[in-house]
Formats: sequence, C-alpha cells, structure tokens
Amino acid sequence: MANKIVFPKNFIWGSATASYQIEGAWNKHGKGESTWDRFTHTPGKIRNNDNGDVANDHYNLWKKDIALMKKLGLQSYRFSIAWPRVLPAGRGKVNQKGIDFYSKLVDGLLKAGITPFATLNHWDIPQTLEDEGGWPVRSTGDAFVEFTDVITRALGDRVKSWITHNEPAVVAWLGYELGVHAPGLKDPKLSLLAAHHLLVSHGQAVPVIRSNSKDAEAGITLNIGWKVPASNSRMDMDSARLDDGRWFRWFADPVYGRGYPADMVEYFTKLGGLPNGLDFVKPGDMETIATPTDFMGLNYYGRNLHRVDDPKNDPQIFFPHPKTPEHWTEMDWENYPQGLTGVLSRVYFNYNPLKIYLTENGASYSTGPDENGNVPDVHRTNYLRTHFEAAHRAIQAGVPLAGYFVWSLMDNFEWSFGYAQRFGIVWVNFETQERILKDSAKWYKAVIKKNGF
Ligand code: FCB
Repeated sequence: MANKIVFPKNFIWGSATASYQIEGAWNKHGKGESTWDRFTHTPGKIRNNDNGDVANDHYNLWKKDIALMKKLGLQSYRFSIAWPRVLPAGRGKVNQKGIDFYSKLVDGLLKAGITPFATLNHWDIPQTLEDEGGWPVRSTGDAFVEFTDVITRALGDRVKSWITHNEPAVVAWLGYELGVHAPGLKDPKLSLLAAHHLLVSHGQAVPVIRSNSKDAEAGITLNIGWKVPASNSRMDMDSARLDDGRWFRWFADPVYGRGYPADMVEYFTKLGGLPNGLDFVKPGDMETIATPTDFMGLNYYGRNLHRVDDPKNDPQIFFPHPKTPEHWTEMDWENYPQGLTGVLSRVYFNYNPLKIYLTENGASYSTGPDENGNVPDVHRTNYLRTHFEAAHRAIQAGVPLAGYFVWSLMDNFEWSFGYAQRFGIVWVNFETQERILKDSAKWYKAVIKKNGF
C-alpha cells in the first residue's frame, strides 16, 4: 500500500475555469463582442460549429456553482474576467453591469469561505481591439493595462491573487501563427509581435495590480510540457529543445530577466518570423517584462516525447504506450505524472520563483452518468491521484509549490474542440444545465478535507 501523502499545512486546493468557457451570456447586459465570439461564430472554425453563447450559463447560474464549490470543500477558485464585459470597446467606457457581476461573484465566494484567484486575460479580448490589430500592436497592451486598472480598483479590496495572462504562448502561436484559436491568423511575424506585447503588458500590469490591491500577489501563468527526446540522437534532442524554447523559454526567460533565448532567436529567424530581428523591442521593454512577480503559475498536462526520423519531416510526438485510458487521455495527450515532478523541479531550480502555483492540471475523459446517475470516472481519479503524488514529490525535493488548481471545476467549452472534450470533475448536461459531481470530485473532496490521501 502506498504511503500516506500529506501536503504542507497552508497548501491551497482549488479548481479553475475561464470566462469564455463557462459564462455564456455573450451579448447580455452591455457585454461587447470578444474575439472568441467572432471566431466561434465563423463557420468551420470549431468542431461541430459549437460556441460559447450559452456554455454553462454560469453568468446566470453562478450561485449554484458556488454552492457546488462549497460542497466540494474547495479552498480557492481560479476564474477569469471577460475584458469585453467590463470595457465593451476595450478601453474607455466602463460597463458597470459587468463589474457588478464579478463583484457579486467575489462576494459570494468569500461568503462561502473560498478564496478568489482571478486571471485578467484568459484569451477572450474585445473584438474592437482585434480590429485595430490585436496583440501584434502595442496599443492593445496599453488597453490591457487600462482594463487591469479598472478591474483591480473594483475588486482589489477583496481579490488578493492575480494572474495577468493565461498561457501567452497559446495566444501568440495558436492565435496568430497556426490560426486554430481566435483570431485565426497564420503569420509568424505577427505571432512574435503578439508574444512581445503580451509580455510587455504583463510587466506593466504588475505594479498597477499592486497599487490597487493592497498586499496582493501577482504573477503570470505559463504552459509547460515535459518535452524530452525519444533517443540521444542529435535530431531528437534539438527537436525537444526547440519545442521547449518555443512554448516555455521564450516567455519564462524574459520574465525572469534573461532576455529572449539566443537559440530561439536563431530558430525564429530561420522560420521567417524575425525579418528585422528584434526591432520591436523598445528601450526599457526587457526591464518591464522582468518586473519581479510574486509567483509563477504553471499549467501542466503531459509529456511530449520527440522523435525525428528524417530532418525533412516534421518531428513526431512519439507515444510509447498502447493508447489505453491509463496512459492516454481523450485530448490525445499522454498521462505522464512523472513529468509534473520534472517540470516543477526544473522551473524552480532553473528560474528560482518565490512560489509556484499549479494553476491548471487535469484530463479529458468523456465518461458520463450511469443508470444510477453516478459518474464513475476512474481514469480521471487515477490521473489526479498520480499527479498529486508527483506534486508532493516535488515539494519534498524543495519546490515551493503553494497550491493546485484542478482543470476544470466542470465540463465546459473546450476552445477549438467545442463541447467534445470534458475536463470537468463535475459533469454538465449542456441541454438542461444539470450538474453532477463525478466520482473524481467526490474523491477530491476527501483529499481536500484530509489535506492528503
Ligand atoms: C489550457 C487552457 C484551458 C483549458 C485547458 C485544457 O491550455 O488554459 O483553458 O482549455 O488547456
């Protein structure tokens, strides 16, 4: 039998969602159109042409959702604020009804004994700003700082944990280079500009948060995979290094004051993304990006094992096991808990953040209710248990991991996959908006209660 695992005394157990994925009410009470509204309303962009118009109807059902969190014993709830709900045109006129929604949500959480953890940009930015050029133009970053100021003034007395951007790499690469996320552009030059302006605006937003929200902690959330070569061949090793460089180091290095990594400048130059070098870096930008933060937020989902059989071909992500649910989730992502110990240790020993929050981790399995109305999602429970063990191992090795946010509180709109992927520990019937605690949620509840298992 496995040893009993006990987490540190003040460890925070939470769960996460994002505005566009759950709120619905896309055009209610003065909310402006977001880039994700526009993208999902464009036929052919999303599996099954799904959209977030209604999603989990959380905008109307938030009280019920807080009750659910309370039932789970959740200590903290990570949610995001829809920028176009607060500033419908991106800047200027404030929509008071939007502020009121988040203000009531925060009060409701606090009343239920749940600590609010807010993300400012989880991707759904105002379409008006995209029409002016989006993240590839610097003025979008300035508008982001204005939004940060407005919302931290309104909520900063009660919300004390703030994330500027969620996964800027995903915004830049999937949104502006690969075209599979909003706004759906395919231009490496624009994607590098987007990445830079996301980073600069992060650094500009941090002092604004601190001045409006006394004693608050502020940081950024980066996605990180355990990217390793399948062999010690030069091609496999380069492939893994470049993949890590693109998704993680390009963002983490400048945030921690190291500037953009030289090997990646070379790589992006070859790719055609930097025709004029780093001429978009203005004096002071790199210092701004490196503004000290209070924590690093990490989202971890799995391992990428790199195998290149021929330099002319794209690298293959090699899957070493049969695709059974123990090793493989329905997103086509490998279940690899050891990688979590790996990334946490690597990030801490390499960058030395004061504190780390695992702001997302979880798995997609579609198991639904059985004839008795139970949801026996054994594979998700197994995924979570083994990842909690992996996190615990990193803590024992000295990593200051302060909290764990399971993705996601409930099944929701999974971006380009629509409703086809279910990451929730709570089942959602999207026809009736019924919510059912899955077995994984019941198990998580017991873990929270005992601070271990
Ligand atoms: C992350 C996103 C989150 C969710 C999970 C599965 O990249 O931050 O919104 O979609 O993946």
